[in-house]
Parts: sequence; structure tokens; C-alpha cells
Amino acid sequence: MAYIEFKQVCKEYKMGEVTIKALNKANLQIEKGELVVIVGPSGAGKTTALNILGGMDTVTSGEVIVDNKNISQLKNKELIKYRREDIGFVFQFYNLVQNLTAIENVELATQICKDSLNPEKIMKKVGLADRKNNFPSQLSGGEQQRVAIARAIAKNPKLLLCDEPTGALDYKTGKQILKLLQDTARKENMTVIIITHNAAIAPMADKIIHFKNGTAEKVEINKEPKPIEEIEW
Ligand SMILES: Nc1ncnc2c1ncn2[C@@H]1O[C@H](COP(=O)(O)OP(=O)(O)OP(=O)(O)O)[C@@H](O)[C@H]1O
Ligand SMILES: [Mg+2]
Repeated sequence: MAYIEFKQVCKEYKMGEVTIKALNKANLQIEKGELVVIVGPSGAGKTTALNILGGMDTVTSGEVIVDNKNISQLKNKELIKYRREDIGFVFQFYNLVQNLTAIENVELATQICKDSLNPEKIMKKVGLADRKNNFPSQLSGGEQQRVAIARAIAKNPKLLLCDEPTGALDYKTGKQILKLLQDTARKENMTVIIITHNAAIAPMADKIIHFKNGTAEKVEINKEPKPIEEIEW
């Protein structure tokens, strides 16, 4: 069995009379330590799939297996533990706590989980050792996103989930962020999933999943992923 499996996953949102099928019998498999890129048109169900995988949303039907655990059947308390200890989540717009400094944002995340990494070391790794005492408002967009990634990595999660992590960044900063994610996936053997609208970065991944109409329509396995430095777009 694969490390992550979606089996016939459906997610419906009821909006008054209308029912929206955000996921429609989605099936997918991801192995441990894989770097996965998810692409697809707006409304295809990418964020919905990631939120379900991160324990932030529930399925209408079907099964989601992570590391032999059926997370679609977890009780509330188990789900909180799963989100806390197993998942690192990077949002498109950073979601930092504005009245805490960069390092305090990272420390906050490590305080709630067991096998967390040293916040100081992670800040160094993301290249922010000298900006760690700045508040988010005193950091550039790219720096804030690096704090958000530091916060997610410092939890030492099994799964690092990133929803358009470079969506708000310029080319150069975006590239730095993707390099950080690629290096983390390699060095820490973390399973990293990145949603992007930029199909050009797909060659950085071990697996590319194309979402369309609520399903993983096409899956490409990439035997020779390229270092992000070698990809231009
Ligand atoms: N909380 C919600 N309530 C109602 N409908 C929702 C909700 N979340 C998502 N949807 C709908 O489900 C469908 C899939 O949305 P989703 O956010 O997963 O798409 P996406 O692939 O991430 O798109 P984008 O590339 O624009 O971010 C869309 O039609 C969306 O409007
Ligand atoms: Mg989305």
C-alpha cells in the first residue's frame, strides 16, 4: 500500500439548492519521501484535496489513508493530534501571527508538537538568522513566506503541504522558496506536496498530478527530477 492513498474520495459542498462536487471519486497514490507537484485549472479541487489530507476538511465519501491510518475516520481528538504532529502547512498568504516576531512564530508551532526541531537552526536554514527578531510587518513577502516554511518544517512533520507557496512572490524569491522545499524533501526525507499554477516547475517533482473536474486525471512519474536552479520559466 502507498504511503498516501485517496480511494474514491468525494467532497460535496451544499450551497442552498446547489451541490458542488469539489472532489468526484478522486484516486491517487503518493510514496514516502516523494516531492509531488499538483497542477490543474482553477476550481479543479486541488485545495480541497490538500485540506482533506491536512485534516482541515472532511470527506463526503471515500477513504484517505496516510501511513496506514484512515484519516477519513479519525475522531475529533485524533484529528487534532494528526494536524498538530504529522502536518506542516504552508498557505499562499503566510498566515503569520502579526504581533509575534519571526522566531516566536516558529517557536509557537514547535511548542505544540513532540519531535520538533530547533527553531534557531531552522531560521538559519531558511536564511533568516539575522532577521529572526523582526515582526512580520518588518519583513518582505519572500521573507515572510520563508518564516511560514520555517514554521512548518520546524514541526518536523511527516507531511509538508504547500498551497501555492510562491503565488504572492516575484520570480527570484519564488525560486528560492522552491529550492528550500526541494532541499527539505531531499535532506529530511519529508513527503512534500506543492500546489502550483505554474506548470513549468513540474520537472522539479518526482510525481506530477494533474487535477481536473475533481479528480486526479493524469499522473506523471518523473524518474529524473531537475534541481530547481536548472528550471527557467
Ligand atoms: N468551503 C466551500 N464551500 C463551497 N464551495 C467550495 C468550498 N471550497 C471549495 N468550494 C468549491 O469547490 C470547487 C473546488 O475548489 P478548490 O478550492 O479545491 O479548487 P482549486 O483547484 O484549489 O482552485 P484554485 O486553483 O482556484 O485555487 C470550486 O468550485 C469551489 O468553488
Ligand atoms: Mg486552490
